[in-house]
Amino acid sequence: MLVAKNLSKSYKELKALSNVNLSIKKGELYGMLGPNGAGKTTTISILSSLLKPDRGEIFYEDKSLYQNLSECKKLIGVVPQEIALYEDLTASENLNFWGTMYGIKGKKLQTKSDELLEFLGLTDRKNHKVKTYSGGMKRRINIAAALLHDPKIVFMDEPTVGIDPQSRNLIFEVIEELHSRGLTMIYTTHYMEEAERLCDRIGIIDEGKIIAEGTLDELKASSSIKEEIHLKYSNPQKNGLEKLSEKYKGQLLINKDHLILSSSQANAELPELIQLCSQSELLLDKIDIRSLSLESIFLELTGKSLRD
Ligand SMILES: Nc1ncnc2c1ncn2[C@@H]1O[C@H](COP(=O)(O)OP(=O)(O)OP(=O)(O)O)[C@@H](O)[C@H]1O
Ligand SMILES: [Mg+2]
Repeated sequence: MLVAKNLSKSYKELKALSNVNLSIKKGELYGMLGPNGAGKTTTISILSSLLKPDRGEIFYEDKSLYQNLSECKKLIGVVPQEIALYEDLTASENLNFWGTMYGIKGKKLQTKSDELLEFLGLTDRKNHKVKTYSGGMKRRINIAAALLHDPKIVFMDEPTVGIDPQSRNLIFEVIEELHSRGLTMIYTTHYMEEAERLCDRIGIIDEGKIIAEGTLDELKASSSIKEEIHLKYSNPQKNGLEKLSEKYKGQLLINKDHLILSSSQANAELPELIQLCSQSELLLDKIDIRSLSLESIFLELTGKSLRD
């Protein structure tokens, strides 16, 4: 469906993308997982022709994007990271505006717009001005707008950031339904849980490079980590946490009230960890051993956390 070869893009001295290669199959839901500034939006902007790469080639169904721009653009729908809606218009009016931009008119536009508003759970509010909508509802109109012209591939750039849990769940259900209907999608996120739940294949992106790619099982199998020790603590002492961080360099994530230690053999590592915690005067509230997550894989590959 989509092949991108050696995409590179710099903003002055900053290399936002270097030699990104992608090959997305028809019907695939591909997740691009990476922290802030990794290059997700830059990649999506380039793939959807909003931004020109410095180098590289893009093909949609074997046709070069730049040599067949208007034809390829019809295949593409984009849900941008920044919400692009007219606040003083209603949801219906916003969709009418976008539909007209895509060249859809009259009854066809009306029917399609109503069908999508229903699909996104917005029928009740469709005649209210967008400025009265929650962040999650606005995001849902954005998704509807991207689907108006029946695209064959849809890019969703972090569609669940900063929205309420109800809208987030609804968006997940919508994406799963679109996936089951065979729509090809590229989904960017910095939430590993979303990539794990939704995506057929995941590309991990950091500092403008895809550093690992595969199904969740493939990514797990290629890692030397097998398990994670999750340890909930209280009474944190700065010195104690520093000592632990020193001892388990590149293996330990420290959060506000819990630690995650990536491990190749959790049972063997646990006694020493408990001893070190006790020496550091950390009070242990709960310990459990879980199977490997993408967070640990990211830590292993980059030495840093997915979240700031
Ligand atoms: N228009 C621009 N001018 C200069 N630098 C830019 C511009 N757009 C992006 N960048 C830089 O390029 C890098 C990649 O940015 P990009 O927006 O693609 O990251 P991202 O993965 O989408 O991040 P986020 O999760 O914060 O949305 C960042 O270092 C960013 O600061
Ligand atoms: Mg972005």
